[in-house]
Amino acid sequence: MPEDSSHKPTMVTCTAPVNIAVIKYWGKRDKDLILPVNSSLSVTLHQDQLKTTTTVAYCRDFEEDRIWLNGKEEDINQPRLQSCLREIRRMARKRRSDKDSTSDVSALSYKVHICSSNNFPTAAGLASSAAGYACLVYTLARLFGVEGELSCVARQGSGSACRSMYGGFVQWKMGEKADGKDSLAEQVEPESHWPELRVLVLVVSAERKPVGSTSGMQTSVETSKLLKYRADSVVPGRMDEMINAIQRKDFAAFAELTMKDSNQFHATCLDTYPPIFYLNDVSRRVINLVHRYNSHYGETRVAYTFDAGPNAVIYTLQDHVSEFVQVVRHFFPSETNGGQFLKGLPVASTTVSDELKNAIGMEPLPKGISYIINTKAGPGPRIEKDSSLHLLRPDGLPKDTV
Ligand code: DP6
Repeated sequence: MPEDSSHKPTMVTCTAPVNIAVIKYWGKRDKDLILPVNSSLSVTLHQDQLKTTTTVAYCRDFEEDRIWLNGKEEDINQPRLQSCLREIRRMARKRRSDKDSTSDVSALSYKVHICSSNNFPTAAGLASSAAGYACLVYTLARLFGVEGELSCVARQGSGSACRSMYGGFVQWKMGEKADGKDSLAEQVEPESHWPELRVLVLVVSAERKPVGSTSGMQTSVETSKLLKYRADSVVPGRMDEMINAIQRKDFAAFAELTMKDSNQFHATCLDTYPPIFYLNDVSRRVINLVHRYNSHYGETRVAYTFDAGPNAVIYTLQDHVSEFVQVVRHFFPSETNGGQFLKGLPVASTTVSDELKNAIGMEPLPKGISYIINTKAGPGPRIEKDSSLHLLRPDGLPKDTV
């Protein structure tokens, strides 16, 4: 923990990634501790394209804990935020009393200011809570000198956040204990393991905000028999198969499991009473397009997955990116058709054969997809060394507010 002898705030800034599950988490067995009914597995996306940045400061002069998200002050008393703050302060105190009894513990009683922002628009409908809580927990830990296992704390902010604490391919083991101590994230393989893997986020234009995942999954736990069957009888085997496919870099096996698991998650939503619909007409067209594309080539080259919203996330290999992007452009022509349609890693331009267009055989749907982000697997949370990138000013207030 840095020195805090002055009245100047002491601050740390970190960044954390988004993750997209290929075996979905859906349903809690304990709502307060956020313990899931099944294990899950995700790919951590590269922070060059999608990340949250968080600055946390403490100062003896701060009068209360405060938080600003994307430039707007929010309620610090939300129970999940409080759980993360309480847990990190507890760990910091414990560490102090175990290891370093002579050091100054006064900073632990100081209030904190937290400022967080995303490098992607919230309107994109991408789940930002995973990167957000992972970043909060990681930054607090760095500021208070807490080391070791932190996914257990991030989990208490948002379940999927525990998987954003690591880079590459990450599993969240559901655990068995009632206190949640064994419900942790673990890296399966680092991001360097499968360099050819690519991720395309297809941002679908949606009019309405769907049911949030927290309340949606609770209704599923209470009403869906399919959810129980999935958790007890399907996911355990799928986790083993998925880890195996990743370790062997077997794209066809990885892709098939990813699509089947997304479909079963959405089937569970439909089995919820009243039913929850996350997929829209564009999502279903993307599903058809992917299957027709794969069947044209007689091999699984592309996979889709959908979270609690209509956006499609596509997993594929580097060699197929340019053609598949061109296929998406053809069947979902954008309004501008300019460079803005494609963000992230560069994509070589190519043409699509009439044979392929005919094999897919769909009517083009203008403006169905707003834009595509081309990215890949990336590393876990990082400390930001450049102090000019702090989101708080030297007086501890945000640099940018709305
Ligand atoms: C569909 O982690 O957002 O994205 O734990 O209530 O905060 P809470 O839910 P959250 O749920 C994510 C659900 C999902 C699937 C997944 O990421 O595994």
